[in-house]
Amino acid sequence: MPGLSGPSDYSQEPSRHPCLHINAKEPFNAEPPRSALVSSYVTPVELFFKRNHGPIPLVDDIERYCVDISGLIETPKKLYFRDIRMLPKYNVTATLQCAGNRRTAMSITRKVKGVGWDVSAIGNAVWGGAKLADILELIGVPKLTSCTQSGGKHIEFVSVDKCEEENGGPYKASIPLSQATNPEADVLLAYEMNGEPLNRDHGYPLRVIVPGVIGARSVKWLDSINIIAEECQGFFMQKDYKMFPPSVDWGNINWNTRKPQMDFPVQSVICSLEDMQSTKPGKVRISGYAVSGGGRGIERVDVSIDGGKTWMEATRFQKTGIPYIADGISNDKWAWVLFELTVDIPQSTEIIAKAVDSAANVQPEKVQDIWNLRGILNTSWHRVHARIGHSNM
Ligand code: MTE
Repeated sequence: MPGLSGPSDYSQEPSRHPCLHINAKEPFNAEPPRSALVSSYVTPVELFFKRNHGPIPLVDDIERYCVDISGLIETPKKLYFRDIRMLPKYNVTATLQCAGNRRTAMSITRKVKGVGWDVSAIGNAVWGGAKLADILELIGVPKLTSCTQSGGKHIEFVSVDKCEEENGGPYKASIPLSQATNPEADVLLAYEMNGEPLNRDHGYPLRVIVPGVIGARSVKWLDSINIIAEECQGFFMQKDYKMFPPSVDWGNINWNTRKPQMDFPVQSVICSLEDMQSTKPGKVRISGYAVSGGGRGIERVDVSIDGGKTWMEATRFQKTGIPYIADGISNDKWAWVLFELTVDIPQSTEIIAKAVDSAANVQPEKVQDIWNLRGILNTSWHRVHARIGHSNM
């Protein structure tokens, strides 16, 4: 592709923040410490998790960089970076969560395949860019179209990175055309993250942001867009990021029996305490994040300090000074909600958080009930053990 290329080795990787916990070096996969997530509503770029499947692409010449749009449409088109920047710009605050978030904890119950993650394969950012619905309209696909005249029902995003799972081919994924052409779905071709041009790790010069959907569909380093009849047949849509029941293992798996995962379920995590953290007896501040897919708000976050026998409701907030009400009009509907509660903890105990979203979906209690061989979507009650009275604080 003119202007953008995917290296075949890791000799030109960008530099990264030393605070990140590295889960895999090549491809680079890393997450911030838990406490960084609750330090601010908008996650700083350098502390935002990085999830890659190959070496990070490079821009040789931004003037020559363009996105090819073709497939089941009347007039295929090349859009240059400057064409995209000339369209109305939107800033959408959206939480990106990898479907593999909390995989390490799922693997403890029974081993799963995939890069291990603690609880920080998630971050909240302000993404700036053009709406995909506007771009598609520019090339002759009207708003709210679910099928083009030539039968296009899905929109595929193709990158340039060289991924082992694709036998050296690029990362790709698709979303339904009805979502792509719906301006309310806020799907972006983003060139900014938190007011700055995207950096290389997060998709420079252009990436897709699909709010409310697992991070795997937000393709970085966008090279081309295809309007297609069926969903993308790439590895990451058909052979990964699908949710199987606990009875399916590597001996009896039939990938075609399940749909690719799109929206993520309701999730909440305590970030102010590490597991087994020692703390003084008395008031302890418990805080964390809660989020649900599909733009659903967070109706409640319940916290227990007696291992789940009794529960207290935590305070939820997004922006200071504006009370948070699930699905309220002043909310950032695609963004997480932070929660906090200060409680007296007299003795060592297990602290648990569970959230309820605006459709009354609740996190499952036990990880065993949602165990799946790829280790995705561990949304079981989040538990930390606080040890009271020890001095190594
Ligand atoms: N896009 C490309 N081209 N290559 C990738 O490896 N990883 C996906 C998605 N887009 C990926 C990609 C996954 S699984 C996730 S969770 C998000 O990017 C992570 O985005 P981030 O690294 O900006 O946090």
